[in-house]
Amino acid sequence: MTSAPATDLAPSEIAVLARAVSRAPSVHNTQPWSMRVRHTDVDLLERTSVTLPSHDPEGRDRTLSCGAALAHLQLAARVLCRAATTWCPAEGEVVATVHAVPGVSPDHDALARFHAIGRRRTHRRWFATEPVSEVDQAAVAAAGDEPRVRVVAPQHRDALAVMLGFATRVFRADAAYQRELGAWTAHTFGPRAAGADEGVPEDALCDDSLPAAGLVRRDTPVPDDDHLTARLQMEHLLVFCTAGDSRREHLAAGAACARAWLEATARGLAGSVLTQPLHLLGFRELLAERLELPGLPQVIFRYGHPVVPVPPSPRRPLGDLLPGEFPGTLPWQTD
Ligand SMILES: Cc1cc2nc3c(=O)[nH]c(=O)nc-3n(C[C@H](O)[C@H](O)[C@H](O)COP(=O)(O)O)c2cc1C
Repeated sequence: MTSAPATDLAPSEIAVLARAVSRAPSVHNTQPWSMRVRHTDVDLLERTSVTLPSHDPEGRDRTLSCGAALAHLQLAARVLCRAATTWCPAEGEVVATVHAVPGVSPDHDALARFHAIGRRRTHRRWFATEPVSEVDQAAVAAAGDEPRVRVVAPQHRDALAVMLGFATRVFRADAAYQRELGAWTAHTFGPRAAGADEGVPEDALCDDSLPAAGLVRRDTPVPDDDHLTARLQMEHLLVFCTAGDSRREHLAAGAACARAWLEATARGLAGSVLTQPLHLLGFRELLAERLELPGLPQVIFRYGHPVVPVPPSPRRPLGDLLPGEFPGTLPWQTD
């Protein structure tokens, strides 16, 4: 019997990678990914069977979510002192392959972001009024630096407020949309009841949620434009834009946003992302025009100082990420 080359990823390393991927943010907490390990290479696969016809008719958010998982995977590989050279094919079920060959030690930023993975949460609540320092703002934006992606702090909050208010009215009145959102919200009953390993926990959708902060439900208040503008002016926002709508651009935007989010978390900040309104027909083009964005908006990230802690949302068992590859006892099964 020949033993695996010393450079191959060991089960304990695979466990670290899988845990990092698992904790990535995803649209409606669908976790639309799986992994396949081949010696030193890790394929990230998109589970296209996960669909949200009302929220995400084109599957764009699903690919953005895979981009977030990719950023977590690359970070974990670096922390394991492995290179994370990545190839993203234009099509097919594998969205990215990370070549995790032995490399150099991680730098301070990579370590800090990696340690933030377990603390990052979607924080849909309002933030403390204390402003984020300019140093922190610059670091968060810089962490989102990525080829194919332009990151901007948007001006014209009044125009943004008007458009978000409009989107809220549309989503509130859309019965099919609300049915789908309800099915992905972990109530105390139904397929995603408390204890489910996917979906958005009911308590993660706070009562004071405004359209600028979370997911619009039937009872989400629609404040007047002035009120919403004032709330938005108090927030730190970043919009992740791309020139087009290719799969590689969606992956890159998801990865860029995830890195910025981890950097914010590492600095004691909290945040949440907004894509819901961007799925309305023509919304992104109009937003790009009114906010003078440098491309098509893919994700809006809001961040600030948290007021209250938010509990973690659930995840599928780590073994599900690597279907059928590692039967028996794995390092992650003890925690
Ligand atoms: C691509 C993408 C789109 C998302 N869109 C929204 C959104 O429009 N509104 C919202 O409140 N949360 C949104 N989320 C946040 C997810 O609901 C959240 O990541 C998921 O429930 C897991 O929770 P966690 O981030 O606390 O781990 C989005 C996340 C991703 C990755």
